[in-house]
Amino acid sequence: MSTFERSLQPVCLAEGWSPASWRGRPALQMPQYPDTAALERALAELRRLPPLVTSWEIFALKRQIAEAQEGRRFLLQGGDCAENFGDCESGTISNRLKVLLQMSLVLIHGLRLPVVRVGRFAGQYAKPRSADMETRGDISLPSYRGDVVNGPEFTAAARVPDPRRMLTAHARSAMTMNFVRALTDGGFADLHHPEYWSLNWVGCSPLAEDYQRMVGSIGDAVRFMETLAGVEMHNLNRIDFYTSHEALLLPYEEALTRQVPRQWGWFNLSTHYPWIGMRTAALDGAHVEYFRGIRNPVAIKVGPSVQPDQLLRLIDVLNPDDEPGRLTFIHRMGAAQIASRLPPLLDAVRRDGRRVLWVCDAMHGNTESTSNGYKTRRFANILSELEQSFDLHAAAGTRLGGVHLELTGEDVTECTGGARELTEHDLERAYRSTVDPRLNYEQSLEIALAIVRKQGLRQALVHG
Ligand code: PEP
Ligand code: CO
Repeated sequence: MSTFERSLQPVCLAEGWSPASWRGRPALQMPQYPDTAALERALAELRRLPPLVTSWEIFALKRQIAEAQEGRRFLLQGGDCAENFGDCESGTISNRLKVLLQMSLVLIHGLRLPVVRVGRFAGQYAKPRSADMETRGDISLPSYRGDVVNGPEFTAAARVPDPRRMLTAHARSAMTMNFVRALTDGGFADLHHPEYWSLNWVGCSPLAEDYQRMVGSIGDAVRFMETLAGVEMHNLNRIDFYTSHEALLLPYEEALTRQVPRQWGWFNLSTHYPWIGMRTAALDGAHVEYFRGIRNPVAIKVGPSVQPDQLLRLIDVLNPDDEPGRLTFIHRMGAAQIASRLPPLLDAVRRDGRRVLWVCDAMHGNTESTSNGYKTRRFANILSELEQSFDLHAAAGTRLGGVHLELTGEDVTECTGGARELTEHDLERAYRSTVDPRLNYEQSLEIALAIVRKQGLRQALVHG
């Protein structure tokens, strides 16, 4: 029996845990619902609704993450900072999927590794905020906490937490999921036709040539293999795609935490791969308590203030049996801090011999505000954090196994720099995010090409 299969055998349930045991711990970032009866009604309805994912899919993803931990796969996790209900429409969903598919193709081709594809969508509706209140002029209102909680409009009515939004979030997640499943199962992801994923402006992008050359060579390889085998390779026409979101709003997550026939324990069936954000990662906090008892693969964001000892205690709580595929650390230090903050953490985990997947979120440590009031990120800083990550892992004897990015398939101008050298003045043109700035289509593809440049070169040196 493989280590992974052994990990599927029943073990003791996490002691003292239940889907509601988080309620006994300090729960940060939770909205205060004014109408508790309405909250109970919404949660009762949510508990009866069907789940969004299955335990089979969760195990399949866990197996892929276990392979990534061993260096046999690379993880690509990306999507909006905050989805909103209005963006649940076919163009936005398929464009985002196209970018992720194109990026994964670049990575597979350049790294010579299969990619674990994970969307930051179909449930990314709750946002942690640094301040409880937002002030404009002389008016202060509760902060916007994501569409699952309240509305972004700056009015008193929109900012009241409304529990029925949880039902809308569930429904929109299901619709998003349904469309993505249909696309990835039904030929849209067919490697014989990568042109299905082309976005309108790919033709006039400075990156188009590199990308088209790579697509051409993949096409040649596919045709060569088919000629050799004498049959068409049908398994090239569908792909696996998984979902993830920050499991911030615990009443919602609890209502979708279920048991399933013929499996022991509990699963969060609102998403395959939930993560804990930096602001709610306290060892004795409600989020860590909730995550301790679910069987999904889980991730936790690791910011610059985390100490090595804290990280080891988190492993003790979240993965006491050192189960393959179970735990991912997503570090997000910022380009300026990563070189000093990351190495002690890598050393501690490596010395302890613990199994984790290391992923770099190159976005959240690099957020800044412009003089004209936009929240932005510089492409050069994002790239620098990513490139430093690869080098720091190599120096520490650990492996960077994936990237976590905020991106969109739309032609937005939210991050500065990149191939088109967007400036602060360009931000006004197409800034649409309600929370954090995202990479646009070209900038995303450029990141994928840069990873390949950096890492493909290293692999060529190692294996060459
Ligand atoms: C996010 O992923 O949108 C986020 C808020 O990240 P972090 O918890 O790392 O700040
Ligand atoms: Co964000």
